[in-house]
Amino acid sequence: MPIPLPPIWFVGCGNMAGALIAGWRSADVDFSNAIAIRPSGKQVDGVTTITELPDGPPPLRCVLGFKPQKLSEIAPELAPRLSEETILVSMLAGVEAETLRKLFPNVQAVVRIMPNLAVEDRKGVTALYSADDLPDHRQRLQFLFGLLGSAIWCETEAELAAVGSVAGAGPAYVARFIAALAKAGEGRGLAPDVAGQIALQTVLGTAIMAERRAETLDELARRVASPKGTTEAGLAVLDADGALDRLVAETIAAAARRGAELAAEARKP
Ligand SMILES: NC(=O)c1ccc[n+]([C@@H]2O[C@H](COP(=O)([O-])OP(=O)(O)OC[C@H]3O[C@@H](n4cnc5c(N)ncnc54)[C@H](OP(=O)(O)O)[C@@H]3O)[C@@H](O)[C@H]2O)c1
Repeated sequence: MPIPLPPIWFVGCGNMAGALIAGWRSADVDFSNAIAIRPSGKQVDGVTTITELPDGPPPLRCVLGFKPQKLSEIAPELAPRLSEETILVSMLAGVEAETLRKLFPNVQAVVRIMPNLAVEDRKGVTALYSADDLPDHRQRLQFLFGLLGSAIWCETEAELAAVGSVAGAGPAYVARFIAALAKAGEGRGLAPDVAGQIALQTVLGTAIMAERRAETLDELARRVASPKGTTEAGLAVLDADGALDRLVAETIAAAARRGAELAAEARKP
């Protein structure tokens, strides 16, 4: 039985909104009430796609899926097309609920989400936040985003940003780590395709082991590394002076600084 959606617009439907739609499609969500708006006119599979904001009845849900830098251009045209029945769902990294509320004063509620691209395979993480009252909608949103993996409601926007900095951006960092593992394999003489395949499978297998077994990541690492053995010698490099922890923390701090810059830009009138 297909899962119905109320009339919904996806304003901007590139990588991230496209991933949400692909995940929901594979969960049998019905998109007959959905419209995707993309200036390029590139069709979104299974969704009516148009190039400009439609006139006519306002949607009950409106998902903002464009880049934060486009907000000041799009909001003045979009806001009058929404109503006090519309729930505005924004995935714009760093753009605060208060900024959105000022630009879209007439909507019923503003919900911020921070999904990651793995929602496409229904293995994603989506953080959600709203400062507004959402009596029934909260559960409904939890259900919809829960179809795509983990859906986590945050108490504050700082928490949303923290989840976003780890999970939203995370697939990019993990992809880099897999590539680095593959490059190291090539450095040891493996053919590039073999190195790529084993690096990917190793990360996939480790994630599955970590998910399935009741052991900590430290215990998992210890099961691989026998005392004074080869893996222990490798871990000593990653752990020296907290090298890996520091690198990852610095990576995430840089992304957080950029998030703060984007939020400041979006706050400007
Ligand atoms: N990518 C991620 O992993 C990720 C994770 C969390 C949050 N986000 C957030 O998701 C948002 C979109 O990121 P993305 O990576 O999906 O970017 P993207 O692939 O570049 O998609 C941007 C979309 O905005 C559309 N667009 C551009 N100008 C527009 C206009 N004037 N009116 C309506 N739509 C317009 C583009 O249309 P065309 O398709 O016609 O070019 C495209 O569909 C950003 O705000 C980002 O912060 C992304």
